[in-house]
Formats: sequence, structure tokens, C-alpha cells
Amino acid sequence: MAQRAFSSIFVRSIRCLSTKPVNVHRCVQPQFKVRPFLEDDIPDVIKIARQNTFQYSEEILKSWLKYDPEGINVAVLDSGEVIGLCSSINYSNDFSFGGAFCVLEKYRYLEIGHKIFQRCFVHAGGRNIVLNSTTELVNSYKRRGFPILEDSFSSLEYEHFGKPLSTKPLSEKLPDGVEIKKLEDAYFDDIFAYDRSLMGYDRKDIIKASCKEANAKTFVAFKNSICVGYGCVKLNMFEASRVGPLYANDSAVAEVMLRRLIENMPEAKGFVMTSVSNNMAANGFMRKLGIPVHNSLFRMYTKEKMIVNTSKIFAQFDIDFSPF
Ligand SMILES: CC(C)(COP(=O)(O)OP(=O)(O)OC[C@H]1O[C@@H](n2cnc3c(N)ncnc32)[C@H](O)[C@@H]1OP(=O)(O)O)[C@@H](O)C(=O)NCCC(=O)NCCS
Repeated sequence: MAQRAFSSIFVRSIRCLSTKPVNVHRCVQPQFKVRPFLEDDIPDVIKIARQNTFQYSEEILKSWLKYDPEGINVAVLDSGEVIGLCSSINYSNDFSFGGAFCVLEKYRYLEIGHKIFQRCFVHAGGRNIVLNSTTELVNSYKRRGFPILEDSFSSLEYEHFGKPLSTKPLSEKLPDGVEIKKLEDAYFDDIFAYDRSLMGYDRKDIIKASCKEANAKTFVAFKNSICVGYGCVKLNMFEASRVGPLYANDSAVAEVMLRRLIENMPEAKGFVMTSVSNNMAANGFMRKLGIPVHNSLFRMYTKEKMIVNTSKIFAQFDIDFSPF
């Protein structure tokens, strides 16, 4: 019942279309259908995502597919070419995360985005949907059923390409009693428990899949054998090192961990990371490294805000598929 009421608000809202730019080149309305994403779609999806510098890795798409098989939807031409995608990953009975919304540039403003978005909205059912919005799309999402705007933080995307990053400005000194170790299978239970205490819900499967990606490296911080943080770095679709998650109780631990993560991916052709704006220490690390903010994203919700202790979140897990 709640789901039907929700969808009808959405359908009504998509009818009152906002003014679209007059000088946008539009191609003829193509024949397409919307269906769940399949592993064979990965090359097309990466082609679309690369147009817009999305931060995710190619391999993580397989993990999200396993985690929620109908969570990513794609628009497909009769020829079989994928021309757009959007996701709503259902994390629990209560909330879903919407993201990865992108349409190939030549097919934009033809309401293809609407159709994929609508499918994701239906998949989320009556759950509270959380998403990150660019400045341009805030009003569009408001009209589409996202009335709540987060006012305590935004998500800051950092990007660095070009000359290799020097980690010298970052501290190497850990607080007394803390050690940082390379991931071993025996540490997974510590990571899961730490992550759950921070997020408030269980992410075992996706954390494990993400840490086990071929090019991922994970470190875990312990104090007196208790997990006090963990961090992961991997090569993303641009072969840049993408740090995330990086969670820690103490910013001094996070700083040393960030340094180790970057140093452990020397083959990277760049660096990307997304922080939360109200974690001053995390943004301070980026200033020390001389990396400017590439994009600032607004957090929006359909029903209610999500409360998480952002002072422990130095880098978000996956800005396109996960809330922190
Ligand atoms: C956002 C995007 C997926 C929309 O796809 P699309 O097929 O062009 O979307 P539609 O034609 O169905 O229009 C969807 C809505 O987005 C709005 N919109 C699309 N692109 C926009 C832009 N660049 N600036 C402002 N509004 C835009 C449309 O006006 C419409 O608004 P409405 O719902 O209030 O009527 C597409 O523009 C895109 O790939 N953008 C780059 C990636 C991006 O910014 N993703 C969103 C991250 S939050």
C-alpha cells in the first residue's frame, strides 16, 4: 500500500517536467527497454560511467549484483547497447541507497533517466531512499519524492591526476598501543563488528567481496587487540587508487592509515576519495596533500535522515552505491 502511494507521487511528479536547456542537442527518441543489470553489461556500463568520472571499480559491479540482483537497472537499445543506468541497493527492510545514475550523453533529456529511476524507485518499495545529488539535480529530486535535504554535511569528492602523489605531508606516527596490520581472513569478524557498530546495519557480504577484489588492499587498526578502524584502497575504472572505506576512532590512526593505503598502490595513475564535509580532519589530510575538492554532493532522503557518527568516517565506502 505504502509502495503504491509512493509510486503514484513519483509518477505525478515526473509529469510536471522542469524546463530543459533549450540548446541541448537531442537525438531521435530511441526504442529501449529497462531491465536489471547483468554481468555482460559491464563494458557498456563502464563506458557510460567513464564519461562522468564516477569513482567505482569495474569489479565492484559484480559484487553489488550479487548483493542485490535487481538493485541496478539499465536502459538498453534494441541493438543490445546499454545507454543508461541507475541503482537502488536495498540494504535492509528500512532503507535503500540510490546512485550511479547516468545516461550516455547523446541520449540525455529524452526521459530515459526517468524510466530507469522509476524502476529503481519501485524496487526500493516503501523503504527510506538515500541518495547523493549534484547541485543541478537537487530540485529535480525534490520534485521526485526526496523532500529531506541533509543539513549537517555534504559529500566531498577529491580527485588528483597527473604527477605522483607525495605522502610526505602525512604523519607516520601512530598513537601508543595502536598497530596497523595487513588484512588476514582471521580479521574479518573484527571488521564486520566494527563496521556494524558504526553503521547500525550488517554489511558482511559486500565488505568481504570488496576487500577480496583482485587489486584491493585492506589494513586494519588494532588497539589492545580491539579493532579501532579499517581502510581499503583499490584501482578504480580510471586506474586511480580509490581510498574507501577509511573508518577510524582516532584521526591520528586514520592519517597514518591513509598514508599506508596510498603508498601501497604505487602503480596508480591518480587518486580519488570521498569524505564527509563535517569531518575536519579528513578534509585536512586532503589539504596537506594539496588535493582540491572536485565535486560537492548533497545528501537527500525520501523519509528521514540517517544518523551516523561521521567523525569516524574519513573516506566513504562507495559513494555511488553506499550511504557512507
Ligand atoms: C542525470 C541524468 C542521468 C538524467 O538523465 P536523462 O535521461 O537526461 O533524464 P531525463 O530526460 O529523464 O530527465 C530527468 C530529470 O533530470 C533533469 N536533468 C537532467 N540533466 C540535468 C542537468 N544537467 N541539469 C539539471 N537537470 C537535469 C531533467 O530536467 C529532469 O528533471 P525533472 O525530473 O525535474 O523533470 C543525466 O543528465 C546524466 O547522465 N548526467 C550526468 C551524471 C549525473 O550527473 N548523474 C546524477 C548524479 S546525482
